[in-house]
Amino acid sequence: MANVVVVGAQWGDEGKGKIVDWLSERADVIARFQGGHNAGHTLVVDGEVYKLHALPSGVVRGGKLSVIGNGVVLDPWHLIKEIETIRAQGVSITPETLMIAENTPLILPFHGELDRARENQNSVAKIGTTGRGIGPCYEDKVGRRVIRVADLADAATLELRLDRALVHHDALRRGLGLEPIKRDEVLAQLREISAEILQYAAPVWKVLNEKRKAGKRILFEGAQGALLDIDFGTYPFVTSSNVIAGQAATGVGVGPGAIDFVLGIVKAYTTRVGEGPFPTELDDADGQRLGERGHEFGTTTGRKRRCGWFDACLVRQTCATSGVSGISLTKLDVLDGFETLKICVGYELDGKSLDYLPTAADEQARCTPVYEEIEGWSESTEGARSWADLPAQAIKYVRRIEELIECPVALVSTSPEREDTILVTDPFSD
Ligand code: GDP
Ligand code: IMO
Ligand code: MG
Repeated sequence: MANVVVVGAQWGDEGKGKIVDWLSERADVIARFQGGHNAGHTLVVDGEVYKLHALPSGVVRGGKLSVIGNGVVLDPWHLIKEIETIRAQGVSITPETLMIAENTPLILPFHGELDRARENQNSVAKIGTTGRGIGPCYEDKVGRRVIRVADLADAATLELRLDRALVHHDALRRGLGLEPIKRDEVLAQLREISAEILQYAAPVWKVLNEKRKAGKRILFEGAQGALLDIDFGTYPFVTSSNVIAGQAATGVGVGPGAIDFVLGIVKAYTTRVGEGPFPTELDDADGQRLGERGHEFGTTTGRKRRCGWFDACLVRQTCATSGVSGISLTKLDVLDGFETLKICVGYELDGKSLDYLPTAADEQARCTPVYEEIEGWSESTEGARSWADLPAQAIKYVRRIEELIECPVALVSTSPEREDTILVTDPFSD
């Protein structure tokens, strides 16, 4: 029985949601293992659009167990609203189909406030975050002062945990010119949602290990992308969690041996939201065209995504750090009609060739991409569901990417719709 991890292999928004939803037919459990509602995953099923942030993309299909793992940071008020929105679209969400790990850290209102206050303070600190409190909550987790789901069950523990957090946060807020936290208000807000959240709480590590023993298939759903990883991303312009495939195990409580196939989701060009280096970024008509054809606006913040050519050098690197077994190449249709396409095959730094993105920020800034040009195609690939539907030149582009990133293509996606997907290798049948 194969378990599959889905991870973003660029700067997020590669189309993970669509692919997780498509693959979920073959899975029994779909588990989020990091990130929070900074993620925005769009699914389109028979024309109906679902926008998911905190909920695993498996909920839409029904009849599957969706899991929010301990590696996630969870805003309970946001979750309640998201459940309502998705239920209103006709999706059933019950404690039988949704489970939240008891040891999941909670994002509280002051985490969002701190995130936004820092971002607004001065340009040196600006990361271009989603402002949803992700970073401050992960800081509190590592700082051992976060409130976790299980703490909601006991009034005395909850107060103790909150007071521990407040000592730290009130000191910090004084420095930023923010009012002290209204302790009783936060406690009341927490008490109000406790029962609703606790109905989904479970020892996820135990449930998943039992499922594995029973031969059930787990689909681990990553958020963000490897270049936003806290260790391997373009630091400090990253998110505050490990995003790469290794996190799937610690983010739910299974061993690394539980992972059989790592599917890297790769957009056929490159996008990025927020600040930070982006070697193949285009600020010309080609970049504009990619953004328009690809509808490159953030699902979470509505911000315009920066666009650029495909960077094979970066994806080869992220396939290595996540141990990618095969990729899903998405949004190939967006490239229809380009006369010529460029692929970055490496960088030049101070007159030397490089086959990876260096770690030092000043070096990253000085790297210039080395491009290879490839002829485009004029035919439409939109909605293609088999290789036979693809123009020869589009196949050449896909094959060249495989060669350059040193990793095979397992799936190709040709529209936002669930079924507009070409299956080359089934990740679950490995
Ligand atoms: P995620 O964060 O990785 O799940 O990706 P997002 O949902 O934020 O962004 C991907 C966008 O592209 C969504 O609007 C999808 O509906 C859309 N999309 C996914 N796959 C394809 C595809 O193959 N072609 C086109 N044109 N759009 C796609
Ligand atoms: P999905 O799952 C794209 C980016 C933000 C910012 C940086 C830090 O939809 O691919 P944060 O709020 O996490 O502290 O912001 O990370 N970012 C994303 N970019 N897709 C995402 O998620 C992202 N989640 C965070 O824009 O640059
Ligand atoms: Mg997204």
